[in-house]
Amino acid sequence: MTVTLAGAGAALPERVLSNHDFVHLDTSDEWIVQRTGIRERRRLAADASLAELATDACGRALADSGVAPRDIHQVVVATSTADRISPGMAVEIATRLGIDRPAAFDVSAGCSGFLYALDHAIAAIESGRADHVLVCGAEALSRITDHTDRNTAVLLGDGAGAVVVSRAEGGLRPSFVLGSDGTRIDLLHVQQDKLLRMRGREIFESAVDLMAGHTELVLERAGLGAEALDLFVAHQANARIIHAVRRRLGVPAERVFLNVDKVANTSSASIPLALAHAGEQQLLHPGAVLGLAAFGAGLSWGAGVITW
Ligand code: ACO
Repeated sequence: MTVTLAGAGAALPERVLSNHDFVHLDTSDEWIVQRTGIRERRRLAADASLAELATDACGRALADSGVAPRDIHQVVVATSTADRISPGMAVEIATRLGIDRPAAFDVSAGCSGFLYALDHAIAAIESGRADHVLVCGAEALSRITDHTDRNTAVLLGDGAGAVVVSRAEGGLRPSFVLGSDGTRIDLLHVQQDKLLRMRGREIFESAVDLMAGHTELVLERAGLGAEALDLFVAHQANARIIHAVRRRLGVPAERVFLNVDKVANTSSASIPLALAHAGEQQLLHPGAVLGLAAFGAGLSWGAGVITW
């Protein structure tokens, strides 16, 4: 018995903001593209429901996997920007999709949240408590963005992505590692004013070390080399960070997935959105070995190897 990703789905708000929409903040398309690779991002309307957007992503992941809602035993949503503080969005999404009374809860672990949720799903299936788990990452980062701060406003986007995690026969066993370091809370946090603050350059350096080092660790534990990766899907914060990580790992550029140009940094939604977009581009085939890596507020981090 092993555990695989059986399907993925994405949902983005309709409103597109290009880099030119930020020139009033004393920035430019050239600066943003050169430093981050970002060209545009999506923005959820102020009165819109994030749970509704997340439900669309989850519905598409279910359709892609062929797993029926009645066969989903757990729903886990990674988010830091839910519509309400309690209950979590997972309960609402499950009901909207007609999933019958699953274990359902939200996870908050910054941009690493999706990998924390995915690790839980794998453990639930490996222990026999579930056959299929729906894992979603959904964020409306515009709710916690200081729209007057060019250091952060240009980097962030809204969106939702989801995967169905399923029991399977044979094949590669997933290998995951998660961690955190609370001595570096000041690098990236949302405080009482409810706005995101960060020290970008210091995060950049930590991000490369954390994602490269932990991806090497999960590959080693799985008995694989970097050449075994069919696709490397890292948290889409900055194209330069991702390329620095792939160079450290020795993964060729054509095996690295990038959609940060289109969606910017969507925190917990980033990796499932990337997986769904990779699927739409026919980059995922049954048995494909995927390397996943994330870092974010905490600091927190995670890396994993799992098959499609
Ligand atoms: N336009 C123009 N100038 C800008 C902008 C902007 N949008 N933003 C910052 N600058 C300026 C700063 O004011 C600073 O100016 P100064 O030197 O006069 O003080 C300068 O650019 C900073 O330059 P660098 O430090 O060389 O910029 P760097 O190449 O590191 O790029 C960036 C900055 C894009 C923030 C990068 O460090 C980064 O991506 N860091 C990681 C960010 C991240 O991933 N955060 C975590 C995710 S956020 C979340 O979790 C939701």
